[in-house]
Amino acid sequence: DIAYVNGAFTPLAEARVSVLDRGFLFADGVYEVAAVIDGKLIDNEAHLARLERSLGELRLKSPVPLARIAEIEAELVARNDVKEGMVYLQITRGAAERDFGFPKDAAPTLVAFSQKKNILSSPAAQNGVKIVTVPDLRWARRDIKSVALLAQVLAKQAAVEVGCHEAWMVDADGLVTEGSSSTAFIVTKGGAIVTRPNSQSILPGCTRRAVLALAAREGLTIEERSFSVAEAYDAVEAFLTSASSLVLPVIEIDGRPIGAGVPGENARALRQLYIECAM
Ligand code: PDD
Repeated sequence: DIAYVNGAFTPLAEARVSVLDRGFLFADGVYEVAAVIDGKLIDNEAHLARLERSLGELRLKSPVPLARIAEIEAELVARNDVKEGMVYLQITRGAAERDFGFPKDAAPTLVAFSQKKNILSSPAAQNGVKIVTVPDLRWARRDIKSVALLAQVLAKQAAVEVGCHEAWMVDADGLVTEGSSSTAFIVTKGGAIVTRPNSQSILPGCTRRAVLALAAREGLTIEERSFSVAEAYDAVEAFLTSASSLVLPVIEIDGRPIGAGVPGENARALRQLYIECAM
């Protein structure tokens, strides 16, 4: 596989950044993940817009224009012959003598690589997934897609260890924020699709945005509001969204079946619509 590091395409196994890179030392950087379906990047304008916003919030400068990043991503997809999978890209504040404040003249580091993965057809999409809830241990600026992901790593590992696919993180008020790497949704008995409104408490998901637009187009009722774990247990349906998994039905939360314990109608329909629109 070929990766991109600071201006050059290079074999992934030989791709290197400095041990002084601030991404490595301080998690001082941001990232994006976009899906590839049929060799095409999905919803990439939204991902690049969010990248630009994340960079701005950290006062980080991209080493190349956003349009060039899109070209680099497309070139990776082509060179690695990715039909289905994802492209990862990361920008950090670069390598400099270790000091917490911003370095005066470090050049930012841009790294990108691709991974092949089944996205359209997977057992998770077919059968639905199980979720466990965990406390949300993250910092207060979750709207920035920073590479500081330790709380998400621990949340996902907690899920894996109890045979679950994803962890939904819960704030101090007992309200679900989001998944470790996905957006959380429930469907109420009245048929409303509920997801937490965008704020500094969650990452504004690109897939979330696209799915809400499709739901609105279909005339479904949308309630952008927080929901508690108790309300989720009692929902008729639950699902999650992310670039790398599109829409996945949730069939169980903390060992309790959601609805009939099988993938829900709304999750199925929205997944199908999202795929049709993406292609
Ligand atoms: N994660 N919330 C969090 C905390 C995320 O990390 C992600 C994405 C999402 C969904 O956002 P989007 O629909 O734009 O992918 C929500 C990516 C896929 C990852 O870290 O691999």
